[in-house]
Amino acid sequence: MKALLLRDKGQWRDMKVEEIERPLPGADEILVNVKAAGLNPVDYKTGQNGSPAWHYPHILGLDAAGEVVEMGSDVTGFEKGDRVVFLADMMKKGAFAEFAVAKAHTVSKLPDSVSFNDAAALPVAAYTAYQALFYKLHIQKNKSILIHAGAGGVGGFAIQLAKYAGLTVITTASEENHEHVKQLGADLAIDYNKEDFVQKTKEFTNDLGVNYVLDTVGRENATQSLEALAYNGQIAFIAGQPEMNDSISFTHPVSFHHVALGSVFQSGNHEEEATLKVIGDHLVELLEKGEINSLVEQVISLEEVPKGLEQLETRKVKGKIVAEI
Ligand SMILES: NC(=O)c1ccc[n+]([C@@H]2O[C@H](COP(=O)([O-])OP(=O)(O)OC[C@H]3O[C@@H](n4cnc5c(N)ncnc54)[C@H](OP(=O)(O)O)[C@@H]3O)[C@@H](O)[C@H]2O)c1
Repeated sequence: MKALLLRDKGQWRDMKVEEIERPLPGADEILVNVKAAGLNPVDYKTGQNGSPAWHYPHILGLDAAGEVVEMGSDVTGFEKGDRVVFLADMMKKGAFAEFAVAKAHTVSKLPDSVSFNDAAALPVAAYTAYQALFYKLHIQKNKSILIHAGAGGVGGFAIQLAKYAGLTVITTASEENHEHVKQLGADLAIDYNKEDFVQKTKEFTNDLGVNYVLDTVGRENATQSLEALAYNGQIAFIAGQPEMNDSISFTHPVSFHHVALGSVFQSGNHEEEATLKVIGDHLVELLEKGEINSLVEQVISLEEVPKGLEQLETRKVKGKIVAEI
């Protein structure tokens, strides 16, 4: 099969499309002919650092959508030709390839009305946003949330999902993206380059602060965000934990939630793995009904993936980039 091969750790910029043996599905796995694969910051990060679990050449790519071509001996509920979307296991060979394997109990089926390109934008970014909002923060209607990097992948899905759940949404984005994040549903967009997001959030919430924060930026930003939380507020962080010690105070009790979507496959916890399917099924339904959009801004070829990852590395990409395979 054709695949984009990572020859060694650190060499992701030089990845080329080459021939490699097609993977075989294990007993509880399905083999998928990948039609589209989404790009994420995790691809260049892990491509840079590598993993002791990888055998080179490795194949990056965690977001996959395509057609089932083969089922392992224990798999039920799937047929050849089923259209599916799934999150690949980052410790194994991934989705920037013609074929990839998936654990069957983590895979969501796609109706004909949802395109492979739209579906491939979902797993890393939208599943993470969904897990943070509904499984960690347990967001409630009529509450308020500050979502960082609303123009990005995770932030863009989080805005749409929080609006869908009936919250007031504040987001941070560069000014040129304010119209975009407002179209996604943000009630207030703060230009983090020029404005103090804590002060702006306080002003917008009558000095109370927000009930929830989703931090997608990093440790410093997450730490600063604690000041924007209301009494009994909660923060979920996906890109670095806030400094907790200094912020734990009797008069400002807040709760912390760590989200690490990709590590689920190393948990040995079948029920947690199966949650990926539950989340995927709901997101696919929301896409189908037009309740959310896939944020796909760029469709590229498999050969162009290294260039796409270089774009992501600038941390200035709006929405999602998807490779058609
Ligand atoms: N722990 C997990 O499970 C998990 C899962 C998914 C992702 N992540 C991590 O979460 C981070 C975000 O992922 P992503 O896919 O959403 O990234 P992304 O799509 O590449 O995010 C790019 C966006 O970030 C915005 N941005 C950059 N710096 C910002 C800042 N200081 N404040 C506000 N916005 C800023 C930019 O907005 P403007 O252009 O408007 O400036 C740009 O649109 C990455 O580090 C990723 O690796 C972790």
